[in-house]
Amino acid sequence: MEKTLIILKPDCTQRRVIGRIIQRFEDKGLTIAGMKLMQISRELAERHYAPHKGKPFYPPLIDYITSGPVVVLALSGTGVIDMARKLMGATFGFNAEPGTIRGDFGASKTYNLVHGSDAPETAETEIALYFSPDELLDYETATHSWTFKPGES
Ligand code: RTP
Ligand code: MG
Repeated sequence: MEKTLIILKPDCTQRRVIGRIIQRFEDKGLTIAGMKLMQISRELAERHYAPHKGKPFYPPLIDYITSGPVVVLALSGTGVIDMARKLMGATFGFNAEPGTIRGDFGASKTYNLVHGSDAPETAETEIALYFSPDELLDYETATHSWTFKPGES
């Protein structure tokens, strides 16, 4: 089953909106395959954000993502990578459409509440940075077959 890595960034924790943001993903029908509260080390942040190294926003991004506790989730579902990105909305809160997480909760460039993997290869690499295989559960919830129509293409 397709999986994606979601991080509820330090502003989510500080603003006490973890529950409301997780609710958005649950409402969509996406399944939580893994979840933990943690503080990201600088070393881990630098590995995660290596593709952005050298960009002007890289140093503040590393400071931000390591600045406090985060909740890391692996979500699973058919098409979950794109669905999660759509639920998150555009990168900067002030541009993001109302109805999206960033559009409803965010107003900043840096403080944009959530991270979501942007492609299947990135999802696989990022999930491996945060979860060991035994921390990921493969299961179907009772509502699954009424959320994803079996056999639908
Ligand atoms: P993410 O990786 O966090 O899911 O966000 P994204 O794909 O929408 O955005 P990306 O281009 O990958 O940027 C990673 C994070 O860096 C911060 N950022 N700040 N000040 C700026 O111009 C700027 N640009 C990006 C944001 O926190 C963004 O989520
Ligand atoms: Mg990104």
